[in-house]
Order: sequence, then structure tokens, then C-alpha cells
Amino acid sequence: MKAMTLNTFGGIDAFELREVPKPVPGAGQVLVRVHATSINPLDYQVRRGDYQDYVPLPAITGHDVSGVVEEVGPGVTAFVPGDEVWYTPQIFDGPGSYAEYHVAAENIVGKKPASLSHLEAASLTLVGGTAWEALVGRAQLRVGESILVHGGAGGVGHVAIQVAKAIGARVFTTARAEQFDFVRGLGADVVIDYQKEDYVDVIMRETAGQGVNVVFDTIGGDTLTRSPDALAQLGRVVSIVDLAKPQNLIQAWGKNASYHFVFTRQNRGKLDELSALVERGQLRPHVGATYSLADIPLAHARLESRDNGLRGKIAIAVVPSANTNATQAQS
Ligand SMILES: NC(=O)c1ccc[n+]([C@@H]2O[C@H](COP(=O)([O-])OP(=O)(O)OC[C@H]3O[C@@H](n4cnc5c(N)ncnc54)[C@H](OP(=O)(O)O)[C@@H]3O)[C@@H](O)[C@H]2O)c1
Repeated sequence: MKAMTLNTFGGIDAFELREVPKPVPGAGQVLVRVHATSINPLDYQVRRGDYQDYVPLPAITGHDVSGVVEEVGPGVTAFVPGDEVWYTPQIFDGPGSYAEYHVAAENIVGKKPASLSHLEAASLTLVGGTAWEALVGRAQLRVGESILVHGGAGGVGHVAIQVAKAIGARVFTTARAEQFDFVRGLGADVVIDYQKEDYVDVIMRETAGQGVNVVFDTIGGDTLTRSPDALAQLGRVVSIVDLAKPQNLIQAWGKNASYHFVFTRQNRGKLDELSALVERGQLRPHVGATYSLADIPLAHARLESRDNGLRGKIAIAVVPSANTNATQAQS
């Protein structure tokens, strides 16, 4: 099979599209024909060597799969060949999804929502699982509460806005001015231009000095230190970004704040809950650009650069028909 492999860590020329052996499913595993995958910041972080201790070379990275079960290993009960599935491969544990085939344990694999194309489904598994774990699992966001979603036009942020709206929260988000229409269309109630405005000032003005119940940090930097200034009493902060430097959280004390850190975990239950939101029309990933398996290096360069005009996700069509969903395919 063809796979986009990393033979060394570095820039986009570290990639090589080459023939590698097709994997074989073991006990409790499924072999999936990958129709689509997508690009996440984790992929370029792996490529440039940020996680060298966890990624032996040569490596296949990639953290989203939407595809069709081709073969099942001994003991598999949840799937049969021909099932359309979606999942995030176990992170730092075996080959990733930049390949024509992938093998995964059946307990991390879900049935793909029929209304999504493979490109859309592959654009949701990692970012959707992360947003779900952060907002539902950790922050336990409730109806009528308010949340600040940092980076609302990005992969995780654009899903988090929709999940927060589905829960029934008032959503504040930060984005560039060019992205305001996009994030409003996803359901954001108050949009803040992070290049021109101070989000703490806007939130305090809009909430009559009360602050928001939850801050979702997808950016890093000094967000954890500054979050208490935007937070209501007993507020919660959830961060998915690793800490590049120590931060002083003394302000959190005065707000009786709780801090949560998420490194997304894989399981079928979370995918099934995301699927329910999708099928109810409350969640749809936005595919901002599509590239082929061979053009993954270009897709990396695009996501990695700032001011790239991107909204939502970059999807990778591993097979050319990946942009149709089950309903379109039947008609
Ligand atoms: N812990 C986990 O399990 C986990 C899971 C998924 C992702 N992550 C991490 O979460 C981060 C975001 O991932 P992603 O997939 O959403 O990335 P992404 O698709 O690149 O989106 C990042 C977004 O942040 C915006 N942004 C950049 N600087 C900003 C600022 N100062 N204020 C507000 N918005 C800003 C960008 O907007 P512009 O276009 O204006 O630059 C972009 O829309 C990455 O660091 C990733 O590694 C962690």
C-alpha cells in the first residue's frame, strides 16, 4: 500500500510517499481501507520532532480515519467488512492514518455518521473527541452557562462552538475579523477580534462584570494566567495546549477556579455521542481545504503557516470519492 512516511524529523521534505506492507488485523482489530484523513497541528509537531521520544522512525503519522472495514481479526464482534467507520488512531502507539490502510482495535472505532462524507468524518474525529472531552467530560458545561472558546475558526474551536451551542451555552469566541461571519454562522454569540481587542475587557463588558463560567484554551501562551480575569466565581478552565513555560495561577485562587488539562483519549462512546449531534443537525465539521495523499507535505505547510485563510479543517482525500456521503452515493 502507499503511505506518506517520515524517515527523519524536519521540514515538509522529511516526507516520502512510498510502498509499505499492508497491515494485517490481529485479535480484536479491524483492517480499514482509509478513504480520508485530515491534518492536525499534532501531525506537524510530530513531523518536526517535538515528540521524538514517542515516535520511532520510520513513522507514519496522521490522527483521523474515515473509511470502510475490509477485514476483521479474530474475536471482533462490532463490525463486519463493508461497514463505514471513523476513529482517531491511538496516539503515539503504532502507525497513523496517512496511508491507504490502517489497523485499529475495534473498541476505539465507531460507525461513521451516514450524513457525513468521508472527508467530513475524517475532519471531526480528533478535534471532535477533544472538544467533547474538554466541554462535556471536564468542564461539564451546562445549559445557560457561558463559555469563551479561544480560536473559534480553528479545527478544535469551530467544533467547540457548535458543541457549546448544542449544550445551550452562551458562546464567546476569539478570531480574526475575516472569520467573524464564519464563527457567527457556527453559533457564536459574541465574537472578539483577537488582533485588536482584549478578550478580558470584552467579556467583562458583555457579562456586566461577572465573567464567563468556562474558558476553553486552544492557544497556549499566557491564556492560563489571564483566564481568571475573564472567569466567573467557581469558573472552570480547560486547556488542550502543553505548557511552554511556567505560569502564575495566583489569580485563579480568588475565583475559586478549577483547571483541567486534556490530552484526548480514544473510545467509541465519545464518537457515538458526536455522531448523535451530527445526525440531529447540531454539529457539522467544516472542510476548509482538501489535498491528496501525495500532497500532504503541501497541506502541512498550509496549516503550519499563519494567515493561511483557513476555516475549520484541512482534509486529505486518500480515495478520490471521499467527498460523497452515503445519501449522495445512493442517489
Ligand atoms: N491536547 C489535545 O488532546 C489536543 C487535541 C487537539 C488539538 N490540540 C492542540 O490545540 C491547538 C489547536 O488545534 P487546532 O486543531 O484547533 O489548530 P488550528 O486548526 O491550527 O486552529 C488554531 C486556531 O487558533 C487561532 N489563533 C491563533 N492565535 C490566536 C490567538 N492569539 N487568539 C485567538 N485565536 C488564535 C488561529 O487563527 P488564525 O488563522 O487567525 O491564526 C486558528 O483559527 C494546537 O496547539 C493543537 O496541538 C491538542
